[in-house]
Amino acid sequence: MNWNESSRRSFLKGMGAAGAIAATAAGSKALAVPAAPATGQQAPLSPSAAKQAATRAERMKWWHEARFGMFIHWGLYSVVGQHEWAKEFEGIPIPQYELLAKHFHPKPNAAREWARLAKKAGQKYMVMTTKHHEGFCLWDTKLTDYNAMKQGPGRDLVREFVDAARAEGLRVGFYYSLMDWHHPDGALCKTDEAARKRFVAYTHGLIRELLTNYGKIDVLWYDVDWPLTAEGWESERMNEMVFSLQPEIIVNNRNGLDGDFSTPEQHITASEAGRAWETCMTLNNSWGFNRGDDAWKTPKTIVSNLATCALGGGNYLLNIGPEPDGSIPPETVSVLETVGQWLDTNGKAIYNTERGSISGNDNANFTRRGNTLYVHEHFWPGHTPAAEWLTFFQPEAVISLGGLKAKVLSARLLKTGQSVKFTQDDQSVRFVGLPLIAPDQPATVIEVECDADPVIDHGAARSLWPRYKVGVSS
Ligand code: GLC
Repeated sequence: MNWNESSRRSFLKGMGAAGAIAATAAGSKALAVPAAPATGQQAPLSPSAAKQAATRAERMKWWHEARFGMFIHWGLYSVVGQHEWAKEFEGIPIPQYELLAKHFHPKPNAAREWARLAKKAGQKYMVMTTKHHEGFCLWDTKLTDYNAMKQGPGRDLVREFVDAARAEGLRVGFYYSLMDWHHPDGALCKTDEAARKRFVAYTHGLIRELLTNYGKIDVLWYDVDWPLTAEGWESERMNEMVFSLQPEIIVNNRNGLDGDFSTPEQHITASEAGRAWETCMTLNNSWGFNRGDDAWKTPKTIVSNLATCALGGGNYLLNIGPEPDGSIPPETVSVLETVGQWLDTNGKAIYNTERGSISGNDNANFTRRGNTLYVHEHFWPGHTPAAEWLTFFQPEAVISLGGLKAKVLSARLLKTGQSVKFTQDDQSVRFVGLPLIAPDQPATVIEVECDADPVIDHGAARSLWPRYKVGVSS
């Protein structure tokens, strides 16, 4: 496959990556929130897209409330344990790669562990790779022998996954890669019409099986549409089939069509207002199990990213890469358990929150629901020597927010329920007399009731300052 920079770029463009702002480190969570597009720019919808649009709000309600999901990348690449692109990056010949299928022996019901962890972590849905770019199908398909039933595992791993997610009350999502490095027509379909027809029939057939044999499926997560366009994949027809089999499903935008939601990858970028989006992200730097990858994100980063997504009205799909036997790397378990403990107390500040208009602050993230503002202080102030001379910082400890346009009515710590004293004037609201040590980790949340939508606009605060009046506008 010729996966050069330009094809990667056009792929990224398809994911809606324009204007990306990286937001992976706690404290650097500037969120790009594009303005709504000018009216009259959109192309008219096809009849089937219009039909999907009509039911979208209802189909997506649970998903918007959920905010947090688990992505699972698992396949033959986990046996190699060197990233899910090993076949490509390391140039492994197909006959060699195929041998992995004989040596893939997961322990029974490994997915139960994943589902239990997802539940504990506060995640509300799970999306598993049913077929990644390597072409190996994790289910009992009748369309190829290159599948988990006929090879090493001798079991239907998709069935086990679906049962495990349902047992924990979690929603079920299928990832499906259109790009296929194994199938003889997977690349030939680009230049040979007979191959394209065969490969489209195969692809639609596999998706049909997935959406017929496993009961109600909540999400279909297409990936990489190389080497065809939506027209070549017959994606309109593909989605029509999907919705006829699963009327309540939601689909993403990686089969060349817009689908129900956008999928920024490894960065947090809100779509325009009214368009659903979900950031997918790795916990280290690899999607598939990668023995040597020790670049684990911290719980603080994950909690911060989750809040950044929530403020933009988006979801966070956080990946795990199980080992070939299905075990979850211990670092993954530890981060997710910590995040889950934090969500046990602070879930109110994440689930079912709404998109807000709040500009950044290096010490905190913000989320909101209606007139309630949640201040997620991840760098707690504690003592400052300035408190000795500046009444502004008394009584210690003080958290001050400039530019909050609404009036604060009351405030309390989510962790303890303890109410927080505050004073407010045109320039700032100051929460005072706080504990010197952060009451909660990785972030302490203050729940703030306001008299209106809690917009924070530093520009508006600046216009009140005397220096602004000298005629310099920024
Ligand atoms: C990219 C990668 C793939 C991964 C996916 C997740 O498409 O190629 O390995 O599955 O991102 O979004």
